[in-house]
Amino acid sequence: MVLSTSQQQLANQIDLFEHVAGAYAQPISGRLTNKELYRIAVGRAGIEASNLNRKTPVGQAGKERSILKRQIRWRQQTLRQLGIIERVEGMRGVWELTQAGKSKLLKIRDGISVLGFRTDLGMAIWSNCTSVFSKWDEPIFLVLTSPPYPLSQPRAYGNPPIEEYLDFICQSIEPLVRNLVKGGNVVLSLGDVFEQGSPAKSTYIEELTIALRKRLGLYLMNRIVWESNKPPGPIQWASKQRMQLNEGYEFCLWFCNDPNACIADNRRVLEPHTEAHKKLIERGGEQRVAIHGDGAYHIRHGSYGQPTVGRIPRNVFHVSNHCASQRAYKKRAKEMGLVPHGATMPLKLARKLVRFLTDVEQTVADPFGGSMTTPFACELENRSWIATENVFDYVRGGAERFVDRPGYELRLNIELTD
Ligand SMILES: C[S@@+](CC[C@H](N)C(=O)[O-])C[C@H]1O[C@@H](n2cnc3c(N)ncnc32)[C@H](O)[C@@H]1O
Repeated sequence: MVLSTSQQQLANQIDLFEHVAGAYAQPISGRLTNKELYRIAVGRAGIEASNLNRKTPVGQAGKERSILKRQIRWRQQTLRQLGIIERVEGMRGVWELTQAGKSKLLKIRDGISVLGFRTDLGMAIWSNCTSVFSKWDEPIFLVLTSPPYPLSQPRAYGNPPIEEYLDFICQSIEPLVRNLVKGGNVVLSLGDVFEQGSPAKSTYIEELTIALRKRLGLYLMNRIVWESNKPPGPIQWASKQRMQLNEGYEFCLWFCNDPNACIADNRRVLEPHTEAHKKLIERGGEQRVAIHGDGAYHIRHGSYGQPTVGRIPRNVFHVSNHCASQRAYKKRAKEMGLVPHGATMPLKLARKLVRFLTDVEQTVADPFGGSMTTPFACELENRSWIATENVFDYVRGGAERFVDRPGYELRLNIELTD
């Protein structure tokens, strides 16, 4: 992907921050004087050290100062505000990583964005999604994402409470929808949740569908059912009280901003014909004449006899939760001492949606990137991508999936250890 000016500005702005943050994670002692910080940060950023001493008049008094040192110190203060570093008591100008800075599931603070990694096709940013996408002004063809669900028992990364859910999703998605091309699509992978302490299902999916229509002008194209081999549940209501059924599916809610101009194309996801259908074609199609459904369906002599390239998929996708790519990601994350993501999407599902809803080289965005499944699907399908994720371990662990991709470059090489 060739970065446009606005993308480049964003990348530059966040790069130096990463080098300053990375500098604190580098020394074995975990401590740095400001002098050491300057040296390590410029070294990491590939900036000539002599630039540190280039002075320019600043302020009303026109006092000569090093702009580069000021920029580094400014980012140092951002790290302090983030709670990632703190002053070492009794040592002037010496800072070190805080316990939170060394801890797991470190969430980035609002307004700060750190470039995680990039490839020739895209970039993943450790950031709250709105910080990045509110500044984004490049066309997006597809938003493919699994947002956090409104769970009463939140996952490790946190889940918004149900009362705030519609606002949270609409506010997160709105800047992306603003950049959606005509006929562009949004897919939200979401599952049912239950009313607190009740076997009744929440209607948040219906409410969200209406909110996206009314607030963001998105039309519901389909509720694609993703059927999988989920473990049995809800235990309380199905196995214990025996008044519910086990859950077997989640939704891929598919929306479009202009349905008549929708850029989806099912010819990109045709499936092989069944043996029975192949035989039907060989026979020259139906040999009978019948009318079903009060005249709604006519079977004529020769119906379904035309050879076609493949079968148009139904809106029920059977995709197993067992995913080799996710297994490899989780293994690698654990080896690196990172927390692996606990709610990942199978790669196969993401690839199918990416292929169906975009053409090669078109840009796909995932504001809730997690282990970076959507970006990885884009890599394999040759689509451009942009993703954000606000938890450090997920961005860092997800990056490992891309090490063999063309143009791969890790920027977030902060080694946070206990
Ligand atoms: C359901 S997970 C996504 C999983 C992903 N599809 C995968 O396959 O790994 C949702 C992710 O959104 C992240 N998240 C939540 N709020 C966020 C925000 N405001 N900005 C960026 N990421 C956020 C969470 O940390 C979590 O990793």
